[in-house]
Amino acid sequence: MVARVELDGPETFLAAARRAKHAQREWSRVPAPVRGRVVAGFGRLVESNKQALAGLVTREIGKPYTEALGEVQEIIDTCDYFVGEGRRLYGQTVPSEMPDKQLFTFRAPVGVAAVVTAGNFPVAVPSWYLAPALVCGNAVVWKPAEYAAATARALAELAWRAGVPEGVLNLVYAEGQPTYEGLRAALEDGSVDKVGFTGSSDVGRDIGELCGRYLQTPCLELGGKNPMVVAADAELDLAVEGALFSGWGTGGQRCTSLGNLIVHRDVHDEFVSRLDAMLREATIGNPTQEVLYGPMLDRKFADRFESFLGEIRPHHRVLGSEATGRITDSNPRKGFRGDHSTGLYYHPVLVDGLRTEDTLFQRETFGPMVGVTTFDTLEEAIELGNMPGYGLSAAVYTTDPGTAFRFREGIGAGMVSANNSTSGAEAHLPFGGNGKSGNGSRLSGMWVIDQFTRWQSLNWDFSGKLQKAQMDVGAVEPQLDYRLPTELRGHR
Ligand code: UN1
Repeated sequence: MVARVELDGPETFLAAARRAKHAQREWSRVPAPVRGRVVAGFGRLVESNKQALAGLVTREIGKPYTEALGEVQEIIDTCDYFVGEGRRLYGQTVPSEMPDKQLFTFRAPVGVAAVVTAGNFPVAVPSWYLAPALVCGNAVVWKPAEYAAATARALAELAWRAGVPEGVLNLVYAEGQPTYEGLRAALEDGSVDKVGFTGSSDVGRDIGELCGRYLQTPCLELGGKNPMVVAADAELDLAVEGALFSGWGTGGQRCTSLGNLIVHRDVHDEFVSRLDAMLREATIGNPTQEVLYGPMLDRKFADRFESFLGEIRPHHRVLGSEATGRITDSNPRKGFRGDHSTGLYYHPVLVDGLRTEDTLFQRETFGPMVGVTTFDTLEEAIELGNMPGYGLSAAVYTTDPGTAFRFREGIGAGMVSANNSTSGAEAHLPFGGNGKSGNGSRLSGMWVIDQFTRWQSLNWDFSGKLQKAQMDVGAVEPQLDYRLPTELRGHR
């Protein structure tokens, strides 16, 4: 155990939202470049504490330390980006249709953002919300995953030490149901203006429905059943490496983790046998050491993963390890590093022979399991990729640019990779999905600014009289009955 925290009820969430509402007014009056400097300080503090924070991520959720370092780097990258935004947050000057009148647009902060995050990326993903929300002049109520409470506290501590006022960033520990009730009360109360949620599609649907009742559009970053298409002309070793990293790295517990491998019939046997061999060789175990992946994040993910293992059918060919299920003395894994009794460790699973009607083809398993199916034409591969109805990330391995661009055009994912895996998005590209993966909102880069600001227009009349739009507008009438004379016509 890493930390013990007291979980709060709905009233604490509501109180935090009210506190945030109060603090936000003053924060929004701090000039944006100064707020940007606070985010700069936050990034620097995270950088100076990089190893400590990554070590805590590893201890608390079992993410391999090298990946945890990458996760912390993603916060620093995010802060780097938003420091500059403090000196932009551009609005526009727009011409008016009348003289002596000028039009402008401004970006106004939304107010209070309620941010609810998962624990698989316990610091990077929260920073995708916090940094832009704060730089844009909002206050935040952050409800992290209960099973990543210490990590959340550490990140919040660094933000407070950077100069984010306590009332502007409020940390609330609570379980799902009280959070939902607290959120409903805060929406009813008018003390939450924007909801950001990263987690499962089912919970995302509930949050979307709740927000809709209050005429709000939340920022939803949900699950994925991310396909990887391996074309007949792919560099197979590269594709195998990409599949291994995105399918089983992080124990398959990324929203961008590989879901279905869609492999061209001509290379299927070769690809699957190379991947199977690499998977059998992969080291699993203690996340402080060099391993492909460590334990499951929390018991609830292990339980759900076990139920998906129960979906393996006689028509499936199970590869990747000598066994399936939890790694124990009686169910060992070759080359396991460390003591398996210290965590919920699972055998990697590669399921060949998936059919489109299989649960394993359709649903996100959020664990170290990937399925394989085959295709003949690119059109078919795209259809298979879109079929489960998610749309977060997708990858294609091919040496033909035409295949890559046609795949990009046909696949419904918000993020597409060519000759790179489904996971590992860079911190300054739009991050988000379609279908069951989200409601079209995007995090990161300049795109997230639209989540945390609202456009406000100003029209300023200095003519000294009331000029009525659409009515008091000068008009120039074209001679619509004019036809080019003979000497100006191409044919006579
Ligand atoms: C997530 O799993 O919610 O693209 C985020 C990636 C990481 C972020 C994943 N940069 O895999």
